[in-house]
Amino acid sequence: MSILTTNYLGLELINPLVVGSSGLTDNFEKIKAIQDAGAGAVVLKSLFEEEIIFEMEEKMHEMHGRSIVFPENYDFLNADLEEDSIRKYLRLIRECKADLEIPIIASINCISSQKWTYLAEEIEKAGADALELNIFLLPSDVNLTAEAYRKTYFDIIDHVREKTRLPLSIKISNYSSELAKFIAELADKDIQGLTLFNKAYAPDFDIDKLTLTSGHVLSSPGDLSLPLRWTALMANRITKDIAATTGVHDGNGLIKVLLAGASSAHVVSTLYKNGIQYIEEMIEELENWMKRHDFKHIDDFKGKLAVDENKDPAEYERVQFYRNFRAFVY
Ligand SMILES: Cc1cc2nc3c(=O)[nH]c(=O)nc-3n(C[C@H](O)[C@H](O)[C@H](O)COP(=O)(O)O)c2cc1C
Repeated sequence: MSILTTNYLGLELINPLVVGSSGLTDNFEKIKAIQDAGAGAVVLKSLFEEEIIFEMEEKMHEMHGRSIVFPENYDFLNADLEEDSIRKYLRLIRECKADLEIPIIASINCISSQKWTYLAEEIEKAGADALELNIFLLPSDVNLTAEAYRKTYFDIIDHVREKTRLPLSIKISNYSSELAKFIAELADKDIQGLTLFNKAYAPDFDIDKLTLTSGHVLSSPGDLSLPLRWTALMANRITKDIAATTGVHDGNGLIKVLLAGASSAHVVSTLYKNGIQYIEEMIEELENWMKRHDFKHIDDFKGKLAVDENKDPAEYERVQFYRNFRAFVY
């Protein structure tokens, strides 16, 4: 057995490099190329409720020359188009499971808990190995309390769990007050893992046109410190798997999140930049490093740099690092 074999969400992976949910994982050919490059698993591109609504509006535009969705057509179109998007998604899962070896983790992003539950059942029937719930609620409503936001997450998880026995992972953002408590409470749910953290859409301004634009879509290696800190802080405080995502750009980044206590790394931006073949290089870096350190198994070093409950977590918790800032003299 390879020294890279590991366990994530109860699934046996040939290595801990998982290609994260994105345009890299939205069709069979791309997923086959990812398998051929040696990744441990893939998370399919999320099925977004927004996408379904957009398709619906396009269809209305074709039919009526405008994209207003009339209430009387809404239910009919909704059912029609939803089926299309969902059928396509389920077909992709079935195709992958029929012809590929790599574990397939489906991903859904919905606002309505009703849709979540229905899709979870269908996804399990289609043969997915696990399901990642991509729940990204920006706490931007001045009238909503942290409890109200949390309740939405917990309700979604409970509803999904009623419908499926698939291993579940919850992908969250870092936009939450009492983040440690929130992660611990999520981990107490009937789930198998947490994915820390989704990268937010980054707004930017065009100062000539005075308009809102999109900022950087891809991450940079410096973004790694966010999941690294929180993985290290939480790995020994929860009993569920952690997948680290955002900023893992090379073999070193992969090694670091494993040292912090992650069970896998969900990698996207670096593959957009360097191509799918770069997976091989990252895995080779991990393997060579393990051999240099005489590690025979991922578990020999996984969590070695996670915060020990019995020790002072100051290095990870300090945000205004006097010693660090003092070194920058102009
Ligand atoms: C182009 C693009 C599309 C993405 N689409 C999804 C998605 O559909 N669902 C999801 O949960 N995350 C999505 N993500 C987030 C990634 O899965 C990943 O968590 C994030 O990019 C951080 O990893 P990275 O630093 O390796 O890029 C997307 C990211 C990118 C760059």
